[in-house]
Amino acid sequence: MPSVTFDAASRTWLLRTPASSYVLGLGHDGTPVGLHWGPVLTLEQAAALPRGFGGGASSFDGPEEADELVTEAGARFTAPSLQLVFPGEARGVVWVYRDHAIDDGHLVVRFADAHQPFEIDLHYRVRGEVIERWSVLRSGVPVTVLRCDSASWSVPRLEDYRLSHVVGGWASENGLRRTELTVGETVLTSRRGLSSHHANPWVMVDGGEATERHGEVWSTALAWSGSWRITLTRTPSGRATWTGGFGHEGLVRTLEPGQEWTTPVFAGHYSAEGYGGASRGWHAFVADHVLPEPDELRPVVYNAWEAVGFEVGEDNQRRLAKLAADVGAELFVMDDAWFGGRTSDRAGLGDWWPNPERFPDGLAPLIDEVHRLGMRFGLWVEPEMVNPDSDLYREHPDWVLHQPGRPRTELRNQLVLNFALPEVADWAHGWLDKLVTEHEIDFLKWDFNRALTEAGPGDEVWIEHVRAVYALIDRLRADHAGLRIEACAGGGGRTDLGMLARTDQVWASDNTDAHDRIGIQRGFSQIYPARVMASWVSDSPNPTTGRRVPLRFRFHVSMAGALGIGGNLLEWSSEDLSEAAALVRIYKDIRPVVHLGRQDRLAYGVQYTSADRVVVLAWQGPSAYGTPLAPLRLTGLDPQERYEDEDTGAIHHGALLMSHGLTLALGGGDYTSVLIRLRPTRSGR
Ligand code: DGJ
Repeated sequence: MPSVTFDAASRTWLLRTPASSYVLGLGHDGTPVGLHWGPVLTLEQAAALPRGFGGGASSFDGPEEADELVTEAGARFTAPSLQLVFPGEARGVVWVYRDHAIDDGHLVVRFADAHQPFEIDLHYRVRGEVIERWSVLRSGVPVTVLRCDSASWSVPRLEDYRLSHVVGGWASENGLRRTELTVGETVLTSRRGLSSHHANPWVMVDGGEATERHGEVWSTALAWSGSWRITLTRTPSGRATWTGGFGHEGLVRTLEPGQEWTTPVFAGHYSAEGYGGASRGWHAFVADHVLPEPDELRPVVYNAWEAVGFEVGEDNQRRLAKLAADVGAELFVMDDAWFGGRTSDRAGLGDWWPNPERFPDGLAPLIDEVHRLGMRFGLWVEPEMVNPDSDLYREHPDWVLHQPGRPRTELRNQLVLNFALPEVADWAHGWLDKLVTEHEIDFLKWDFNRALTEAGPGDEVWIEHVRAVYALIDRLRADHAGLRIEACAGGGGRTDLGMLARTDQVWASDNTDAHDRIGIQRGFSQIYPARVMASWVSDSPNPTTGRRVPLRFRFHVSMAGALGIGGNLLEWSSEDLSEAAALVRIYKDIRPVVHLGRQDRLAYGVQYTSADRVVVLAWQGPSAYGTPLAPLRLTGLDPQERYEDEDTGAIHHGALLMSHGLTLALGGGDYTSVLIRLRPTRSGR
């Protein structure tokens, strides 16, 4: 069965993933409308879906249709996806269907406006269990664009609606919230010019009954790394719909004649297997259709930022590199303060040459030493930023985002370079390309440490800056095939599908406290897979929170993603270094299952499952006497199979692991943890 089919008689398009269907058609006035998003339908069933809902309930309502992009034409009162002003002040789009094309799971439905020289193509692409949607706009006249969303999504009418999303801030990203979707409008947004720590551009909606393992969940995620907005509407009459796209409210841009605008992808997934099923769908999508190098096992990183801060020098980096190699690190990353006059956050950003006092012979001796120790070498960069106290800013004060006549707000003593200016993007490409070409640099940690303010001149820089960053990273990757990149924005401020399409992992948070990390990682895992979640083991007490957590627990939390080490190894005891080396060896053993297997969140841990192995990490934080944890119920196993614990030799029935669970050796104080490795014995059938 092809993934896209068309019923000409009813003008119905059916998109099918293996486990779901999406159906669109034309509404009462020819506007494209969503007719179904849910379980699999045949084309005959899709063609029979009710449509043409006629007028509204009163002269204060419109028809109850689910527009694919809500415009300001006719009796439409939900949040608009497109806010367009044509010459002469006409708003909205009066849709006229032109034609469509279907090519290998990719559907384009083309429309024009009935009265204006204006065209919109709606794109749909089936990618595994996910449907990608975006739109392309063209105009023969200048159009003022106040809003230009990628897509609007609607779920079937349910008794109730619950919204899942994440909230947070710097060092507290990905706080999962599940709340009733209120009647009215709910806006999730970033006005900061990055996808942000405070929210993340995805939503999940369910009927209030879904659990981790059961129930229907509809979710969408936006592939964009700048400002964004998703507006959900629950009407008093009981419908739920949402529209989303790039840019925040109030931005004004002009679509000029001859230009073609393409919105970012706003992708959707339907799960009949609860939140866990939704997350697994997204993880598979990211692996199969987003990441440039999905199948590579992410290396064990050592990064000394928390150990030495701005006090970087060749000597301390060499000494740390030796210890890092001894504990099993595979990639040594030198963080901030290796360049220009950067000895604090007050100066030097923009002057991208090795600090002559810290690296008198350049970077080559350190890079050679790291390679000699058997590790790859990575370097921290923050190409989009400049300290006013830098040679670059003194030479090019006009290169930063600013608004004429307004103060230039500094955050962390830095300003943002305007990558929408071709000369700025070219300058960045020039020094990055030279740096990577002239040194054996295997990895860049690409940081972005402040929000945008006074972004200008012109509102389009909010969009064009991000596009220029994408183009730059894409070009670097194309020219340097072995280069790998970590997306970072003061921690997880740029965790999104847009960055993941051109990077290999994300620095999930500047908070490395294992206790806090469990929650941050749980929120992260809702959409993004373990292999891209960089997670360091750092010192105890933790430099940010002051909390003391045993080394083993810290490792067991970080092993749930792409393990790294960020502690000051120069101060670790020899016992800690040996224990760390042993834990890194175990991590390397389980890494293929963690990175490439299926991930299931459990009550107080996480399970990874591949064809021939099961790995469970479980954590108990602060414990209260008299409240023992229930046995940990596993999931997704073969009930007929017997599983052998690789460390103890104990045999467990799959059926019992799933129904009665594993009793784990947790307890005996705060912050205890276990790692279980199971193998099917193939003897149970
Ligand atoms: C913020 C990052 O998240 C940290 O890991 C570190 O790279 C600092 N920036 C350096 O300034």
